[in-house]
Amino acid sequence: MPVRILKKKELIPGQTVLLVLDAPQIARKSRPGNFVILRVDETGERVPLTIADRDAEAGTITLVFLVVGKTTAHLATLGEGQDILDVCGPLGKPTHIEPCSSVICVGGGTGIAAMHHIAKGHVAAGNKVAVIIGARNRELLLFREELAAFCHEVLVATDDGSLGHKGLVTEVLKARLEADKCVSEVVAVGPVPMMEAVAKVTRPFGVKTTVSLNAIMVDGIGMCGACRCTVEGKTRFACVEGPEFDGHQVDFQELKMRLGQFRPEEKDCFDKFRCRS
Ligand SMILES: Cc1cc2nc3c(=O)[nH]c(=O)nc-3n(C[C@H](O)[C@H](O)[C@H](O)COP(=O)(O)OP(=O)(O)OC[C@H]3O[C@@H](n4cnc5c(N)ncnc54)[C@H](O)[C@@H]3O)c2cc1C
Ligand code: FES
Repeated sequence: MPVRILKKKELIPGQTVLLVLDAPQIARKSRPGNFVILRVDETGERVPLTIADRDAEAGTITLVFLVVGKTTAHLATLGEGQDILDVCGPLGKPTHIEPCSSVICVGGGTGIAAMHHIAKGHVAAGNKVAVIIGARNRELLLFREELAAFCHEVLVATDDGSLGHKGLVTEVLKARLEADKCVSEVVAVGPVPMMEAVAKVTRPFGVKTTVSLNAIMVDGIGMCGACRCTVEGKTRFACVEGPEFDGHQVDFQELKMRLGQFRPEEKDCFDKFRCRS
């Protein structure tokens, strides 16, 4: 069923877009950590996007995406009042949230938007939540005000030092774990190298570490096997068994290799789309 775009905002011009969709059933059922799979039109591929927020009363869900290739570029051409052909969800296992002493949520790039929903869930469960967000510079930091409105603490890292710590989120995380021995869990959502680095930092501290795997997905319901990852030496389907897994057990090298396996075809497809539009 077509799903209407109620609101569109370019968070970072030409790069990152926020859409609010009229999707009452998905809004009612979705939980932090869930995602949708959408098709822009009949010939379009299926792409997964995390539900960055939802409003069950208004019947809306919020998606935030980075324009990286043909489908995300096509999606970015749609405006308010236009329809997306179909949006399937909520998919994936929701984030496992239980009352605990304190949680650190780490977000990088567009992953900050996805992490926002998870942080909200932890706050709703009564947990003390500190977030660490990072980007190349302050203009690229997403959701800073939104996170500050409900999280106990927002720590910032920028590559150029234009805001907060000059350097990486992992440096802020390490300093925090050294100073605070009461952290029950670290959740990381962002580029694969960032999540891998977070898991490396937390390992010596023995802190439970959850990462959200953005494996290539096609059906999203456990049938095609496209999203298979290796976790704890076993094959797992990220769409139905994840997307969140124990970061200390994920084979990140394999994930990176599988994410890049169609790069020539993706580039070709994006080039053709740009020539046509
Ligand atoms: C559970 C999940 C949640 C995600 N949430 C978000 C989000 O909230 N915001 C966001 O910007 N991105 C998110 N992604 C990544 C997003 O799905 C890809 O950026 C998108 O599919 C790229 O499609 P494209 O045609 O624009 O680019 P392409 O040129 O086709 O691909 C660019 C890169 O995106 C990845 N990719 C391509 N196709 C898929 C696919 N079907 N499934 C997964 N990855 C793919 C590959 O690494 C590829 O190299 C998520 C991925 C997963 C698995
Ligand atoms: S996307 Fe097909 S099995 Fe997970």
